[in-house]
Amino acid sequence: MDNNWYLDEEFWRTFGPLMFNADTFARGEEEIECLLSLLDMPPVPTLDLGAGPGRHSLPLARSGYPVTALDTSAYLLDQLGESASDLPVEIMRADMREFVREQAFGLVLVMWTSFGYFENEADHARVLENMSASLRPGGRLVLDLVGLETLCRTMEPVHLTEYDDGRLLVERPALIDHMTRLDNEWLLIDGDTIHRTHFSHRVWSAGEISSLLNSHGFDILAIHGDYQGADYDLEAERMIVIAQPIEST
Ligand SMILES: C[S@@+](CC[C@H](N)C(=O)[O-])C[C@H]1O[C@@H](n2cnc3c(N)ncnc32)[C@H](O)[C@@H]1O
Repeated sequence: MDNNWYLDEEFWRTFGPLMFNADTFARGEEEIECLLSLLDMPPVPTLDLGAGPGRHSLPLARSGYPVTALDTSAYLLDQLGESASDLPVEIMRADMREFVREQAFGLVLVMWTSFGYFENEADHARVLENMSASLRPGGRLVLDLVGLETLCRTMEPVHLTEYDDGRLLVERPALIDHMTRLDNEWLLIDGDTIHRTHFSHRVWSAGEISSLLNSHGFDILAIHGDYQGADYDLEAERMIVIAQPIEST
């Protein structure tokens, strides 16, 4: 049976406050600034899939982009609702596997490795088809991922983070299933309490994600290794894929 960890509100309640803090919100704002200069397109209706509490939806809306922020987590969307006040953000609680709004968006974003969670490959294909159907002709898709090449270079068997309040996060990652998935065990040590979670998600090399997108009707416009627009190479920190639905003639 699938381990649907990404639908578990308890996961986001426990680990969300570590992931979505002042530093990562500031980083989201910088990422949007860089991305908009890479994309060089006027404000268009934008779909932020797996938007969470709005690290990217909020700065996009502040830049004049009408945003639909879609997520399955009511807990995270409530936080976004509180921050959005009168910004042009439509908050939508839905599963990216189900959501299609025909040719409604000029830009679709899936940020911070939020594409790849499903155990079933057909679910990833379904999301790509939904995104393609939801994009207007000439629209762009941005996937912000970590590539297999980067993981091979940077992954440590154990990684420890100590937070200012004394909590410790122990991460134990491993590449499994012929290096197609990243398996992760997280232990959050909070005084005498330990929260443990175990999850995995799909990883692709640049060549594999290009083939997957091509086979679902997308042309690859660029693959960058960071938000400044560096080439995707052996120094890459992220794998930022910019794609466009192939125009039917
Ligand atoms: C790592 S967080 C990233 C949040 C946001 N994109 C960011 O960069 O801060 C992944 C998000 O994807 C959402 N998510 C997971 N599975 C989903 C699904 N099937 N449909 C829509 N959202 C989903 C989670 O609830 C979570 O908010």
